[in-house]
Amino acid sequence: MKEGLYRTLKRKIITLTLVMSLTPLLILGAVLYYQFESAGREMTREQIRYRAQAQAEAVDLFLKERTAILNAMADTHDFAQMIDEKNLARIFEVMNSRAGAFVDLGIIDSRGAHRAYIGPYDLRGRNYLDQSWFNEVMIKGHYKSDVYMGFRQQPHFIIAVRRHENQQAWILRATIDPNRFEEIVRSAQIGRTGDAYLVNREGFLQTRPRFEGDVLGQTAIDTRQFGGRVTVIELEDAAGTERFYAGSWLNDNKWLLIINQQPLELMSRLFALRQMEIFIITLGVLGIVATTIFTTRLTINRLRKSDREMIELNAQLVQSDKLAALGKMAAGVAHEINNPLAVILQKTGWMEDLLEEEGLKQSANIAEFRQSIAKIEQHVERARKVVHNMLGYARKMEPRLEDVDVNSTIDQTITILENHARINNIDIQVDLAETVPIIAGDQAQLQQVFLNLFTNAIDAIGSNGTIEVASWRSDDHIVVTIKDDGPGLSEDMMRKIFDPFFTTKDPGKGTGLGLWVSHNIIAKMGGGIHVKNNPDKGAVFTVEIPIVIPEKK
Ligand SMILES: Nc1ncnc2c1ncn2[C@@H]1O[C@H](COP(=O)(O)OP(=O)(O)OP(=O)(O)O)[C@@H](O)[C@H]1O
Ligand SMILES: [Mg+2]
Repeated sequence: MKEGLYRTLKRKIITLTLVMSLTPLLILGAVLYYQFESAGREMTREQIRYRAQAQAEAVDLFLKERTAILNAMADTHDFAQMIDEKNLARIFEVMNSRAGAFVDLGIIDSRGAHRAYIGPYDLRGRNYLDQSWFNEVMIKGHYKSDVYMGFRQQPHFIIAVRRHENQQAWILRATIDPNRFEEIVRSAQIGRTGDAYLVNREGFLQTRPRFEGDVLGQTAIDTRQFGGRVTVIELEDAAGTERFYAGSWLNDNKWLLIINQQPLELMSRLFALRQMEIFIITLGVLGIVATTIFTTRLTINRLRKSDREMIELNAQLVQSDKLAALGKMAAGVAHEINNPLAVILQKTGWMEDLLEEEGLKQSANIAEFRQSIAKIEQHVERARKVVHNMLGYARKMEPRLEDVDVNSTIDQTITILENHARINNIDIQVDLAETVPIIAGDQAQLQQVFLNLFTNAIDAIGSNGTIEVASWRSDDHIVVTIKDDGPGLSEDMMRKIFDPFFTTKDPGKGTGLGLWVSHNIIAKMGGGIHVKNNPDKGAVFTVEIPIVIPEKK
């Protein structure tokens, strides 16, 4: 019944504590968990956005430098100088030493004829009149091609500038080393999954990507998705893996630099952190659960113990209340019975005397009369003993105060009983404190207590056994224990043992008042008597007598 209450209480405390402490932790954990993910994605986006922009600027710069040097050469030389291949070779050398990455250099006249050429392919004499780039450079004055195969059947691109001289136009044209260019573009790729390449407006590759496709191949990328300067979009690649694509248009708005990356790769450190977070939170949760269960258990056990103690204390209080009330009533009853008993005894004496008279002596029933009178006397005597005990206690409600030595009181009691014990082959072992303080009390009453306890022990043992008596001082009490190796007490007896008239002895043998009186005497002194069973055998009575120092006379 009570156990159920403790269980409910325990469950409630544990649930409440866990809910209150785990909820914020778990919410925090969940927020962090998702925050990691979104922060990670955001970081990745920013990172590749920045890279795309920076790399587009770098590529632009590369192209601008090449165009600038081409312009400078065209500005400082005239057509005649240019078509002299010795000069052109020198110019080519200067250009490569200043900027590098030029594969070849050529001069084309206004009719599209390749007039002079320095480079690995023999392009001299080729005519470009019908090529669209030729028209464009003639009109706009400068030109950068897309990558194309051209006469040399190699992917490459060119930059070209036009000059006028004596109403005649000529074009200085250079091919950029596709490998060098690709290197520059590729330097923007990051990690295991990063890629960087250029596409034109139609989505044709201008440099070789790291993973899929080749120069001039068509990509699946719709370049219209990339507006403004830098745009980041999320797409699935051919393998179905999510990738971030950052696209940044170069200055001429013809080429789009694309950097792509699996976000998971860049976020791997964040994922490790998140793993750590989960670990720490799990540890925290386990810690909280364990501590909560442990402390709740501890608390409930304490509560259970103190409840039990309170119940015991209550029972003791009820018991001593009961004993006190019984005591008052018994004393009253005893007093009332004493007088009739005296009268009965007096009358039986008188009847005894009468039986001695001659006439009655002749009676045939004289023997039976005598027997009956003796029985009456015997029973009245027994009744008187009971009453005497009860009155003895009642009368001595206010004990006399004298100097009492507890140890010598015990010794005297033993002396009285020694013979009785020896006859029954009972050994009394004495282990008294060397000195105990002299206290103020009523020695006769105290002796009555010890006498009761010893007699009970002897009665319990019957014959052949040991009684051990010990005394010591504990703080402000003198403690005396009387231990026997008799049969001990049942639970039921333990409860009733101090009740008046509780006895297991044969009628006429015990009144059942001994322990009741003893208990009252000690209680009056401010102490207590307790009984326990020995772990091995028999009972042990413990008497605690408060030390009351006698007043100086
Ligand atoms: N040391 C003991 N071992 C076992 N039982 C005991 C012991 N002391 C007391 N008892 C039990 O307690 C009962 C009550 O004891 P109590 O001294 O109050 O009365 P009594 O001994 O029966 O009678 P009286 O003391 O008047 O002779 C006893 O009858 C006995 O059953
Ligand atoms: Mg007794």
